[in-house]
Amino acid sequence: MNTIKLQRTTENDWQLVSDIKEAAVSDIFHANLGEVAIKKYLRDFESYFITHENKMVGIIGYRPEPEINGYYIGELIVSQEYKGKGFGKAAMQIALELIGNHPVKLTTHPENSPAICLYLKLGFKIKAWKDNYYNDGEPRIVMIKE
Ligand SMILES: CC(C)(COP(=O)(O)OP(=O)(O)OC[C@H]1O[C@@H](n2cnc3c(N)ncnc32)[C@H](O)[C@@H]1OP(=O)(O)O)[C@@H](O)C(=O)NCCC(=O)NCCS
Repeated sequence: MNTIKLQRTTENDWQLVSDIKEAAVSDIFHANLGEVAIKKYLRDFESYFITHENKMVGIIGYRPEPEINGYYIGELIVSQEYKGKGFGKAAMQIALELIGNHPVKLTTHPENSPAICLYLKLGFKIKAWKDNYYNDGEPRIVMIKE
């Protein structure tokens, strides 16, 4: 889906980003919500709106991850009405191009099949299972693309 564009967010976008995150929350997708947490995310991450034909379809964000001398993708959300159209994969491909030739790490819930399939398709490999990784009582798997 080459009609996707990534548009950089600013802290002023926190409410819109919050709405997207809040709408995505489920048993297998948790998000840090609230103005303080969202503004911190927007400061710490290179965060982008995913847009398609000038419509905002989701968000993606990454930051440096010194431990692997690479990057950590901390957020990928496609809003419910736009799922399954290739937007998530296209946005990941653009982010990976922006990141360039560096290792990339992410975590996801072991029951998050759509995300895991997407990441596997893009060359990520499962590296570890972590119980209670974010202190929310839920496990996560760590995936890395070398
Ligand atoms: C995960 C998510 C971003 C996928 O976005 P999307 O735009 O719907 O995904 P795409 O249409 O680009 O699909 C790309 C690939 O992902 C996989 N995939 C997508 N939806 C899937 C589903 N429901 N079941 C299984 N695999 C799925 C497929 O491998 C698909 O490739 P294919 O179309 O060639 O079969 C989206 O479901 C989402 O926002 N989920 C809620 C938030 C979340 O869990 N984010 C990830 C946190 S780690």
